[in-house]
Amino acid sequence: MSTLAIGIDIGGTGIKGALVDVDSGELVSPRIKKPTPSGGEPQAIVETTAEIVEEILAGQNEGAGQGSGTAQGQDASAAPVGVCFPAIVIDGKTMSAANVSKKWVGLEAEQLFEKRLGRDIHFVNDADAAGVAEVRFGAAKGRHGLVLLTTLGTGIGSALIYDGVLVPNAELGHIEVDGKDAEKRASYAAKERGRLSWMRWAARLQRYYAQLEFLFSPELFIVGGGVSKSWQEFLPLLSLRTPIVPAEHRNNAGILGAAALAARR
Ligand code: BGC
Repeated sequence: MSTLAIGIDIGGTGIKGALVDVDSGELVSPRIKKPTPSGGEPQAIVETTAEIVEEILAGQNEGAGQGSGTAQGQDASAAPVGVCFPAIVIDGKTMSAANVSKKWVGLEAEQLFEKRLGRDIHFVNDADAAGVAEVRFGAAKGRHGLVLLTTLGTGIGSALIYDGVLVPNAELGHIEVDGKDAEKRASYAAKERGRLSWMRWAARLQRYYAQLEFLFSPELFIVGGGVSKSWQEFLPLLSLRTPIVPAEHRNNAGILGAAALAARR
């Protein structure tokens, strides 16, 4: 018997979710993705999340006993739900909103989701969830000392992990580099906005990671986010004394980490 949990990853453009076997780190249902409601307001996002959870569970009922793509006869109806979100999260409350509606600031997000979904929710920062996924099932597994994971997307998310333990809510995408908020210059969105070549973007990443290296002296950098599938285009252009590797889980990192944290609770 394995432990099942549902992982939901809320982003600026899409909300995705799946049922996860948190022992093996595998998705045991199809991944469901829906666009993030425009404006990104809390109530609309809760509704879309509820639809995704319902679809995941309905798929389990249909597939029960058929094996493939389902949790093979296991009851997922009471599975806890982990939700990750791009904000500082303290005791289930969202405390910032860098790239989402300001209505999230100071919101009892975990309670709001629990009320609508009628089950236990664990609410966590998106990059922290990705960090937990790498510790449990990826590039940070079994690593000692300080590992810094950064996700390069609309913003820059970060997870600070020491001896396999997450120190939550490290907002290292917002350190100042050359007098500017780092994510404004070095996120993947900044590359797209400025139509930067890999080379020009890598020059900005160099400034960013050199600053992180100076401040934290980590043992390892892990780079996640969708663009990390093209890591060969930019990681070899960086010159750091710290090893820097792509994340093993990209699109599913948030789902896996959020589910793992929900199951642990
Ligand atoms: C937010 C972080 C988030 C990151 C990645 C940043 O703008 O401040 O909380 O982890 O974007 O989504």
